[in-house]
Amino acid sequence: MKIVSVVGARPQFIKAAVVSRVLRGQHQERLLHTGQHYDYEMSEVFFRELDLPRPDINLGVGSASHARQTGEMLIGIEQVLLREKPDGVLIYGDTNSTLAGALAAAKLNLPVAHVEAGLRSFNRAMPEEINRVVADRLSDLLFCPTRTAVENLAREGITAGVHLVGDVMYDLLLQSLPLAERTSTILERLGLQPGAYLLATVHRAGNTDSRENLAGILAGLGATGETVILPLHPRTRHALAGWGLAPAEKVRLIEPVGYLDMLVLEKNARLILTDSGGVQKEACWLGIPCLTLREETEWVETVEAGWNLLVGTSAERIAEAVRGFYPQGEKPALFGDGRAGEQIVRILEDTLGSHL
Ligand code: UD1
Ligand code: UDP
Repeated sequence: MKIVSVVGARPQFIKAAVVSRVLRGQHQERLLHTGQHYDYEMSEVFFRELDLPRPDINLGVGSASHARQTGEMLIGIEQVLLREKPDGVLIYGDTNSTLAGALAAAKLNLPVAHVEAGLRSFNRAMPEEINRVVADRLSDLLFCPTRTAVENLAREGITAGVHLVGDVMYDLLLQSLPLAERTSTILERLGLQPGAYLLATVHRAGNTDSRENLAGILAGLGATGETVILPLHPRTRHALAGWGLAPAEKVRLIEPVGYLDMLVLEKNARLILTDSGGVQKEACWLGIPCLTLREETEWVETVEAGWNLLVGTSAERIAEAVRGFYPQGEKPALFGDGRAGEQIVRILEDTLGSHL
């Protein structure tokens, strides 16, 4: 098989690393980076750390409005697909790079395979929700991490090509944690003791584009009185400057970190606060209590299991939950068995390979 994998944003490098490792062993892969993320800490670091091959193509699209960014990606991806003539196109998650990959491939009648299909927040104000709905509608193969995702698709009338495979991010966490714990020096570099700090990430448009929400989150973090480590997404850095907001002294802003350092920061945190999809899941896998800085989540199983609490952006709710949220019992076993990548490649072979 010859597959073009479309990536562009941080969580996609992480997800693609898993499938790419399996795929490249036996098949041809062209890794197409749209250039949506481009800072060293948002892109290059993951290629270095994750044994992910260098992108074969980088469109260098960069940041722009939704329409301009997606449009430039569409034009670039189409040219690559026409040249490469792959047997299928792999897309990941829910970013503008996902949407552009799906659209460009579908218009060329190329099979589209979506990794992390079927996730829904049921909030169309999120750009990601629009990307998910369209990408899933256009996909021929839909690789779902959860049963809920399969059910979400069925409710939209999508049942053909749907496969419950588990979560590729779990595969990567299992594969990477021993290496991370052996090699990362992040705790020493930041002078942190295990269990003696909170870890936070914030980057959702709904939280950064509203001064009230961002100010509420910062006030909540400050009100905990605990040391908070906040690796700052560039979107949030710009928002803080634009809104004229600064955090309390014990909230330590740091540059975004690589995946291995992030795993170690997560594993040793007393508690995690986040609006990131990936970080909610990792908290759960590592058995760290998680507060989600949103009113809804796609990863409802983490909430149902009692290890994730939706706290929104009110300073009082955040500070109160930091004081009083202690999940009971064992950490839940969610989202697969760590072999999602292998299952995905096997299904690609069975379906796309049979047409060759
Ligand atoms: C994107 C995805 C989001 C995903 C997130 C992962 C969309 C619509 N959103 O959000 O689903 O959760 O990536 O991190 O696709 N910027 C830089 N340097 C970079 C990248 C971005 O400075 O390397 C700044 C730019 O000012 C840019 C802003 O961050 O305008 C937002 O970047 P963009 O890629 O548009 O969206 P994200 O918020 O990163
Ligand atoms: N991550 C990272 N460094 C950071 C913040 C996050 O490596 O400074 C990792 C995190 O561990 C997870 C992924 O990035 O694997 C999540 O990506 P992000 O939060 O950007 O996007 P989302 O999952 O919300 O789409």
